[in-house]
Amino acid sequence: MSGKRVFVVDAGGRGNAIAHAFARSGAVEKVFVAPGNAGSEMIDKCRLALVQGKPPKTIREMLAFAKQERIDLTFIGPEGYLSDGIVNTFHENDLRILGPKKEAATLENSKCTTKELLKGLNVPVPPCQNFEHPDDAREYARQFFSENPGQGLVVKADGLAAGKGSIVCSTEDETISTIDRIMVNPKLFGRAGERIEIERRLDGRELMFFALSDGRTVRPLESALDYKQAFSSDESVAVRLFNKLSSNPNLNNNPNTGGMGGFSPHPWLDEELTEKIMDRIAGPTVRGFREATGHEYVGVIYFGLMISEEKEPSVLEINVRLGDPETQVILPRLETDFFDISIAMLEKRLDSIQLKWSRDYCLGICAISGRAIKPLSSGGSGERPGYPGEHYTNMPISGLDRVDPEVLVYHNGTAFSQDAAGNKKLFTTGGRVLTLVARGRSLADARTKAYDNIKRIRFNGMRYRRDIGLGYV
Ligand code: GLY
Repeated sequence: MSGKRVFVVDAGGRGNAIAHAFARSGAVEKVFVAPGNAGSEMIDKCRLALVQGKPPKTIREMLAFAKQERIDLTFIGPEGYLSDGIVNTFHENDLRILGPKKEAATLENSKCTTKELLKGLNVPVPPCQNFEHPDDAREYARQFFSENPGQGLVVKADGLAAGKGSIVCSTEDETISTIDRIMVNPKLFGRAGERIEIERRLDGRELMFFALSDGRTVRPLESALDYKQAFSSDESVAVRLFNKLSSNPNLNNNPNTGGMGGFSPHPWLDEELTEKIMDRIAGPTVRGFREATGHEYVGVIYFGLMISEEKEPSVLEINVRLGDPETQVILPRLETDFFDISIAMLEKRLDSIQLKWSRDYCLGICAISGRAIKPLSSGGSGERPGYPGEHYTNMPISGLDRVDPEVLVYHNGTAFSQDAAGNKKLFTTGGRVLTLVARGRSLADARTKAYDNIKRIRFNGMRYRRDIGLGYV
């Protein structure tokens, strides 16, 4: 029997880590990645998917590629293709693909519908209400703050907003201005903000919980503690400068990012809490969704949770995909064959699969394109606030050859290009550039190795948080 050919659709570090997990399978001969990045080509067995020299981008092009390359399994990373129905299209063409169909991807692409569904299923959610008209939303905010001084609200655009659609508000003025900016002017998230959800801000600790579902059986994945804010708590000067350069009037706002790093296993997600989340949230959501809609949820399901001081979980949001950079620190710990798991999910035999995890720790640091202090003479001038704000791209990256061989470097935003002398060189293409992942028998080992290695990588304006894992070693 010839080796299996896998197609991973993803552009970032998450996609590198997914491709790497498939490449470790003895059954897999080749992994194609689209659109991928320079890192996709640096993993054993992995290649960029190309059609006539260009990466396939539309669902139609992806389908043509999968047929032409006789792909045995396609795995979708980002939510956009899922919402647009890539799984439906592949199924119509009798191709194997892992991810929820577009009917199930509504769990991420309509926050309002999902919260209504969860309330109906008695899955715990914060007190919340949906609005289609800004007058009603403003009135709700006024009443809330008059009855609950000192509390806060979270205003959420209903649709997909590249992870930026939830805005935490502490005052009535801030909430009303947020409602207006989403629903009236400038319509921050376009049509995704035509409907909004307003929910009460809960106290507690946030937890990202990942599980696999074959539509019937739901299995938890290992989890990771992630670092969302751009700066650590001792970087107040940098926070103020960031806001000044971003023209943000709130100079002390530490901005949220897609993720600045993390580590796995999670330090306080124990067996008891996992069981509670599975029994009260993950299981009922998948079962209830099937009963309410007639559609099965197949794929990764990712719950953004708030855990109260009493260790009670509430669902803030659901995503239909893996997280980035969480995937980069979770999947390297997976010892069970990822191709076997994926096929078991498609064949509805997830109950027959035992997920085995390494006892090692993995710690990941994202190197981002921060403020460029010395713009290159060839491009760019002046200061930019850096990711998640405006940042430089097209900066040459060096030092990867000095990273220890056992340390993983997953690429988020890189490409090969020619330098001035015509040599093939690695350049930055995005705000998050690389996720460097080190493993160790203890978190302290993994942390030391990761920080020791990231220092060897360089690009103009490179920045990373210095406190990933600090306080847990
Ligand atoms: N790291 C957060 C996310 O992928 O949504």
